[in-house]
Amino acid sequence: MKKIWYTYEDIHRAIKQLAEKIQQSHQHFDAMIAIGGGGFIPARILRSFLNIPVYTVTLSYYDANDQPTHSPQKIQWTDGLASHIKDKRILIVDEVDDSRVTLQYCIEELQQEGFKDLGVAVLHEKRKPKEGTLPDNMPYFSALVVEDWWINYPWDALDIETHNLNANMPSSSSPEAEV
Ligand code: G4P
Ligand code: MG
Repeated sequence: MKKIWYTYEDIHRAIKQLAEKIQQSHQHFDAMIAIGGGGFIPARILRSFLNIPVYTVTLSYYDANDQPTHSPQKIQWTDGLASHIKDKRILIVDEVDDSRVTLQYCIEELQQEGFKDLGVAVLHEKRKPKEGTLPDNMPYFSALVVEDWWINYPWDALDIETHNLNANMPSSSSPEAEV
């Protein structure tokens, strides 16, 4: 699979565009739920633009050997949180819409706890057939639509200088399209 690298600056710029799309849609959200680990940093950057609080859950779809598990696993969930915010408009934030399995799982689990008014915002929407589905009419925002390449995020880097060098190689540029 082809690979692509994004710098923190790339991501900050993309999240600013994402915030603008959300604001231009005139959809108002009261709070975010970031799906960790990948959704934490995008949600925190998005907070700078939307000025709404960030709550978190952590799900893991890949195991320690980088193989998908049969269903996303709850590493940390909403204990105690649902009763406070389930009646609010919540924007679920994650870094990548890949198979949609994790997103579908998260939405269904939140709905079971009584959350009614949900939207989704992702940094990268991969252009590919999706295994998971999102409810019809659920507000959905993505900063960038990208090809189905493996994305290297800066927060996964063990050496950020090498990561940034890879990101700045001409071969790393992806035929991404803004939506
Ligand atoms: P989706 O619903 O959001 O489409 O996610 P999906 O279930 O397909 O898989 C989610 C897992 O796959 C996430 O990891 C996500 O980070 C990872 N993933 C998918 N595509 C890429 C990619 O191109 N690059 C990277 N770095 N990761 C990708 P996770 O198990 O939820 O863990 P975490 O990394 O969020 O902690
Ligand atoms: Mg993730």
